[in-house]
Amino acid sequence: MRAIVVTDQAAGTAGMKLVERPEPIAAINDVIVMIYASGYVGTELTWPSTWTDRTNRDRTPTIPGHEFAGVVTSLGYGTTGLTVGQRVFGITDWYRDGTLAEYAAIEARNLAPLPGDVDFTVGASLPISGLTAWQGLYDHGHLKGGQTILAHGAAGAVGTMVVQLAREAGAYVIGTGRTSDRQKALEYGAHEFFDLDNDNLEDIGGVDLVFDVIGGDIGKRSAGLIRPGGTIVSVVGPNEAHPINGRAIDFVVEPDRGQLTEIVQRVRDGRLRINIGEISTLDEAITTLNSTKRRLGKPVIRVRS
Ligand SMILES: NC(=O)c1ccc[n+]([C@@H]2O[C@H](COP(=O)([O-])OP(=O)(O)OC[C@H]3O[C@@H](n4cnc5c(N)ncnc54)[C@H](OP(=O)(O)O)[C@@H]3O)[C@@H](O)[C@H]2O)c1
Repeated sequence: MRAIVVTDQAAGTAGMKLVERPEPIAAINDVIVMIYASGYVGTELTWPSTWTDRTNRDRTPTIPGHEFAGVVTSLGYGTTGLTVGQRVFGITDWYRDGTLAEYAAIEARNLAPLPGDVDFTVGASLPISGLTAWQGLYDHGHLKGGQTILAHGAAGAVGTMVVQLAREAGAYVIGTGRTSDRQKALEYGAHEFFDLDNDNLEDIGGVDLVFDVIGGDIGKRSAGLIRPGGTIVSVVGPNEAHPINGRAIDFVVEPDRGQLTEIVQRVRDGRLRINIGEISTLDEAITTLNSTKRRLGKPVIRVRS
């Protein structure tokens, strides 16, 4: 099969190569999925799991891409609940070969059925951003209607999902980002926009929840905005500061079939807008992923037309 691989950590995306690789085989409880479309997170080549296995041994050459939409082509021993020919979407194991490839082996529990009226490109754009937002807001942030949330990076892939889900939950949403992100953040449902390039973060006052996709100094200063009993949720590692009388949580998104089903249903009934950036073919993907242009939305690689 054709797949994009990386072997050289220092080279970053410039080291990506489109090569022939053996097709994966289905282990216990796996399915093999023919990949139609794959999402990509810009930081993947900095993740330790891209380079080593769970025992810290080199696992290169590695196929990046960890979210996808496609069709089940075979079932592993003992796999139940899915059938050959079924449309599916979801997250793949960080430590296994990913989805910038024609086929991938995935544990069946990590994916969900993709309804027939949802395009593969749309399906591939949702799992990581959608689940990260869902879990950060509800599982970790315990968001409730009437609360105020500060959604950093509100025009980005995760941020646009955070803004929309928080708004649906009845929260007051303050989105942040660069000056040029204002319009997009407001269009996705932020009540207010805060310009991180020009405004003073401390002027925001108190909030119940910070959803941080930026970290560093922004994350640190945001901890000071948390009201008593509030939470700062980070998806970019532990925060350097802890809120006084509040919680600080950092987490890595987990696969969840029920949550994926909720998310795609919201897309179907118009409650959730997708945020897809550049769409490229597998042949074009290396050029796209090496572009120095600012990414506006989730990059999706259309592996099969
Ligand atoms: N822990 C997890 O499970 C998990 C899951 C998903 C994503 N993540 C992480 O979350 C981060 C965001 O992912 P994403 O897919 O949403 O990326 P994205 O689409 O690039 O969104 C991030 C947004 O934040 C903006 N931003 C970053 N630094 C900023 C700053 N200093 N000032 C103003 N705006 C800033 C970005 O603008 P620019 O492009 O101009 O910088 C972009 O609009 C990544 O680091 C990713 O690895 C973690």
